[in-house]
Amino acid sequence: MSKWLAIVMTVGLLAGCGGNDRNDATAEAPSSAVEHDPHSYGNPNEARVTHVALDLDVDFEGRALRGSATLDLEVADAAEALILDTRNLGISAVTDGDGAVLEYALGEADADLGTPLTIMLSHRTERVRIQYETNPGATALQWLPAHQTLSGEHPFLFSQGQAIHTRSWIPLQDSPGVRVTYEATIRVPEGLRVVMSAANDPSAALDGEFRFDMPQAVPPYLIAIGVGDLAFEAMSPRTGVYAEAELVSAAADEFADTERMTEVAETLYGPYRWDRYDLLILPPSFPFGGMENPRLSFITPTVIAGDRSLVALIAHELAHSWSGNLVSNATWRDLWLNEGFTTYVTIRIMEAVYGEARARMEAALDYQSLAAEMEELSPEAQVLAIDLSGEHADDVFTDVPYAKGMFFLMWLEREFGRETFDAFLRGYFDHFAFQSITTAQFEEYLYEHLLEAHPETVTREQVHVWIHEPGMPDTFVPPESDAFSRIDGVRGAWLAGEVVAADIDTDAWTVHEWLHFLDGLPRELSVAQLDALDGAFDLTQSENNMIARSWLQLAVRNRYDPAYERLEAFLMGIGRNLLIAPLYKALMETGQAEFARRVYEAAKPSYHPITVAANEPVIYPDGE
Ligand code: BES
Ligand code: ZN
Repeated sequence: MSKWLAIVMTVGLLAGCGGNDRNDATAEAPSSAVEHDPHSYGNPNEARVTHVALDLDVDFEGRALRGSATLDLEVADAAEALILDTRNLGISAVTDGDGAVLEYALGEADADLGTPLTIMLSHRTERVRIQYETNPGATALQWLPAHQTLSGEHPFLFSQGQAIHTRSWIPLQDSPGVRVTYEATIRVPEGLRVVMSAANDPSAALDGEFRFDMPQAVPPYLIAIGVGDLAFEAMSPRTGVYAEAELVSAAADEFADTERMTEVAETLYGPYRWDRYDLLILPPSFPFGGMENPRLSFITPTVIAGDRSLVALIAHELAHSWSGNLVSNATWRDLWLNEGFTTYVTIRIMEAVYGEARARMEAALDYQSLAAEMEELSPEAQVLAIDLSGEHADDVFTDVPYAKGMFFLMWLEREFGRETFDAFLRGYFDHFAFQSITTAQFEEYLYEHLLEAHPETVTREQVHVWIHEPGMPDTFVPPESDAFSRIDGVRGAWLAGEVVAADIDTDAWTVHEWLHFLDGLPRELSVAQLDALDGAFDLTQSENNMIARSWLQLAVRNRYDPAYERLEAFLMGIGRNLLIAPLYKALMETGQAEFARRVYEAAKPSYHPITVAANEPVIYPDGE
């Protein structure tokens, strides 16, 4: 073993304990300490990445990004090495800012966390440059051949960093506590457009080279890229849509309320601080509904329903511009500070733009989904500030951080009154702007600025139960919706045979009412009952993907043959996990593994790695 490799292996012990020859009085120690993150190998409290400059070629044939990442560092006097996160990167050279070669070593690969990259720092190293290329299987990247796009003519590439995938396309310290600014030069085949979670110029020439600057420090999971044959349509002076030309107008029309939503959020929580807010509409294989990449939310096309009925998704991703992106979770344990606050802010935006009835329905649906999921979760997983050590970071994304987090804030709002709570939240976003914080930091701020400022309203003990105990606390009041109570009545009457389906007046039903009606039906229905519903409402052909999902779930549970053609097309055409995972699950639970596996195998090449990873264990429970 070489001497330096021995140092690499013991650097964790040495660093911070003196006993080294790095004695540069001018070197800055990293600013305030970063919270230890069990999902990163990085050593930011010794040597911290503060800025990333990417210079990458996009190779669609080789399915690789190739080039360099130049990292600016803040280095503590005692630091001998910089430790980065990587996953399956091909590294060819590491130099300092002047081009001098630096020694480096890749550690052991871990299936969840990837591979630490340790770079030996010499005296005064404040910049390192890593020459590398990504692996075709990089978990953050989906490479779509032209035939998987609408035009069928050009390939498409997009990244998805959250939670810990950025390390598969950029070597850096991939912890949300280590915020970075970034810049990028990206080269692509001429005619294609590149967009990033940075300043985008809708009028940029499509000449094969794009430059980006992101002057605001963000967690690494928010660095994102999209490449494709993308058109742009403005929705307001500061909002617009990027999408394939075939879809861009429909998208701009569907999401036309984005500016109003932004104004509402600004009134509540202070100015939008990220300059532009644009949407990137991805191909249907995008594994999520949306992803809040700063300045440019990534959005599934499956919410373009034609009637703006599913735009809560936009409110949600926009809300992250305050909760999540401005004030971020320091580690994945603290995700509820991000998604829970966002789910709350979403409801407030929906209420202000579309009225209280719709907001109540959205909250009631969130509760139904939370209550159902809670039944399957272990007590440990029902805690907002979840203990994630030893778990994969993705395991934190249940309804708990989202809906339980929201209901906690709704409870505070009810107890302190809207005016007081709104002022508190606005002050909180200002106070922690552009920082990544822990649950403990939030608790301290909450005690000082809300509980102590308004004594005898709620107790610390009550707050503690919400944040650190499983289940729903005694202080929780389930949301109610008059509209849903009416639906319950109609559903009951139909099931009791008091009314026939064709006589149910559904003309004024919103998507929410449809979902509540369908999801509340018994698991077992007769063919005659399903025929009656389908005959009256044409559910098998529903153009609303959320309604289609709920209907197909019923169809699967009851082996309702007439829906299977649509079911297969749905599973083949969509990669959004929320829409397809419940269908695969229902198929497997009802002994239809053969059908599930046939369709899954056919669809798999077009699914995103995240969708594959989520469904594979369901479809092959024994690891076959
Ligand atoms: N940040 C999430 C997307 C995400 C989830 C990334 C899990 C990585 C792991 C995003 O803001 C989100 O929550 N999207 C939801 C929609 C929302 C309305 C609940 C989605 O994609 O369905
Ligand atoms: Zn979210």
